[in-house]
Amino acid sequence: MAEACGAAPVVVALDGPAASGKSTVGLAVARELGFAFVETGKLYRALAWKALREGVAPDDGPALAALFREVVVEYRLADAGPQILVDGEDVTAELAAAEVAEAASALSAFPEVREVLLPLQRRLARPPGVVVEGRDIGTVVFPEAPFKFFLEASLAERARRRAGDFAALGQDVTPAEVEEDLARRDGRDLSREAAPLRRAEDAVVVDTTDLTFEEVVRAIVERVRAGTGSNRE
Ligand code: DC
Repeated sequence: MAEACGAAPVVVALDGPAASGKSTVGLAVARELGFAFVETGKLYRALAWKALREGVAPDDGPALAALFREVVVEYRLADAGPQILVDGEDVTAELAAAEVAEAASALSAFPEVREVLLPLQRRLARPPGVVVEGRDIGTVVFPEAPFKFFLEASLAERARRRAGDFAALGQDVTPAEVEEDLARRDGRDLSREAAPLRRAEDAVVVDTTDLTFEEVVRAIVERVRAGTGSNRE
């Protein structure tokens, strides 16, 4: 991994559908490698929060574009997790809400919304490296990334994991409800025209359905250390 010592940051792109484990896996991989970790979904959620606050419908493309022309979103890297600011206001704690996730999924379909976030995402790459998690990281944001992974897991398994997350937070949601929500968001992320959820041709697919968390993290870290984290070689 000679690049890690040079000036250019090493980018590890981590894409996949909702609840495929990208956030927890990405954080662990970043820690192992001594890299920063960026969850780009939080940026879409930040814009969704802004739209909800201003009463702009998340399916009104022109109104969203006008609203976001002036907005300032900041993604601050910190050991305790990222801090997200919208026009100087810390909104980090509010981004987990289901209505914010739903609005983020809707507004992320608009190319003019995606464009707002593109330079910001690219600026977050810093030496020695960064693990960037999202839907279009390997295809659009960092198409030249030397390491690309696409996490997959069956819908049932993803729903089971996400229902467990909700239960841990004391929220009573059935796996069936979670499955319906995930299927709707997946459908939208996959079918939109602008930067849809798609595996980059040179991304390594990691199907996590039957793997433990540790096995997934190890598989990715070992590939990055060995320099075989993409199918380009
Ligand atoms: O990963 P997440 O659930 O926090 O993402 C919220 C929404 O943002 C998701 O439904 C799709 C969108 N998103 C996107 O379109 N592109 C990304 N790189 C990250 C997220």
